[in-house]
Amino acid sequence: MQSSTKAATTPSGRSALSGLVGNTPLLRVSEPLAPAGRGFWGKLEGFNPGGIKDRPGLHMVERARARGDLRPGGRIIESTSGTLGLGLALAGMVYGHPVTLVTDPGLELSMTRLLTAYGAQVNVVSEPHPTGGWQQARRDRVQRLLEQHPGSWCPDQYSNPDNVAAYTPLALELASGMGHIDVLVCSVGTGGHSAGVSRVLRQLYPELTVVGVDTIGSTIFGQPARPRLMRGLGSSIYPRNVAYENFSEVHWVAPHEAVWTCRQLAASHYATGGWSVGAVALVAGWLARTMPADARIVAIFPDGPQRYLGTVYDDDYCAAHGLLESPPAPEPELLGCLDEKEVTRWTRCTTVVDPLTLQGAQGASDVEADAPEEDR
Ligand SMILES: Cc1ncc(COP(=O)(O)O)c(C=O)c1O
Repeated sequence: MQSSTKAATTPSGRSALSGLVGNTPLLRVSEPLAPAGRGFWGKLEGFNPGGIKDRPGLHMVERARARGDLRPGGRIIESTSGTLGLGLALAGMVYGHPVTLVTDPGLELSMTRLLTAYGAQVNVVSEPHPTGGWQQARRDRVQRLLEQHPGSWCPDQYSNPDNVAAYTPLALELASGMGHIDVLVCSVGTGGHSAGVSRVLRQLYPELTVVGVDTIGSTIFGQPARPRLMRGLGSSIYPRNVAYENFSEVHWVAPHEAVWTCRQLAASHYATGGWSVGAVALVAGWLARTMPADARIVAIFPDGPQRYLGTVYDDDYCAAHGLLESPPAPEPELLGCLDEKEVTRWTRCTTVVDPLTLQGAQGASDVEADAPEEDR
């Protein structure tokens, strides 16, 4: 059953549901990811009802409504199989919009059930596009649905500036919870949360160091597109919301390194999350080991463990993909420039530029055509 009824409001007129988003806790993380007496803080965005993307889900819809791009009762249509689907289902319920999420047969059954329970219509494309694969098939379906539903609207999180602005409250929560911040560690997918949080924190702490975390096989920071096991972070396109100029360095992390870190974090801190949580925790732990002991480091943990029980936390899955064979190296490799070579393990680079300015970079649309499916 599709629900487009508006959610109940509190006496102040604010939706009781949107009041559940934000003010997520901070967790101090130390041994074994950092030596005794050192550590970093994890901002646990998995405490939002659907994860970090509840914030942009609500904000993009609010702004589109305010501008008149999304009319009352208009349908929200987006291609997503990830966390934004949950955020849009929430926003649809808060503001009374039907939601259609276009996905493909790769979507986990648990997600389909959850999104459907939240009232979203999950629209599954059955065939990949002959040349553009699943991603193009999904985009084509979104286009067709937008034409079929007058007054419908697509948020387009990769280039919508409201996906960046949505994170101002998160930055302010960090500032008030931490007092001072020296280093911010963020995973990068659409670029939304790293751009939005760093923009505000830089104004407050001009010396802030921003460290981006990507997966191997992702194009975002100039590496070639490869099939990727890790979801959430990484991309096969060049999302325009990535604020390249804000990053002091980028780290690429491999799936087995993220799995190892997720499991260490779970066993030592009762903290769980997905691929991006493991990847940022690995990098933040290394920063805590190598930076001055009093550096105040915060890492954003985008979601909780629910979607990863059959992957990151499943011994059979991990064994089948060779993810339990070795812990990460104690140090990342260092690249002189983003495209010096293809990286296959934890690696860092301290010269970050927009890869579309690098010689030999493919145009976004060329890469997109044969890209593996996106998951956010
Ligand atoms: C679990 C998870 N981690 C990290 C990210 C990357 O965040 P952003 O798109 O803001 O760069 C996403 C994006 O969907 C995500 O779902």
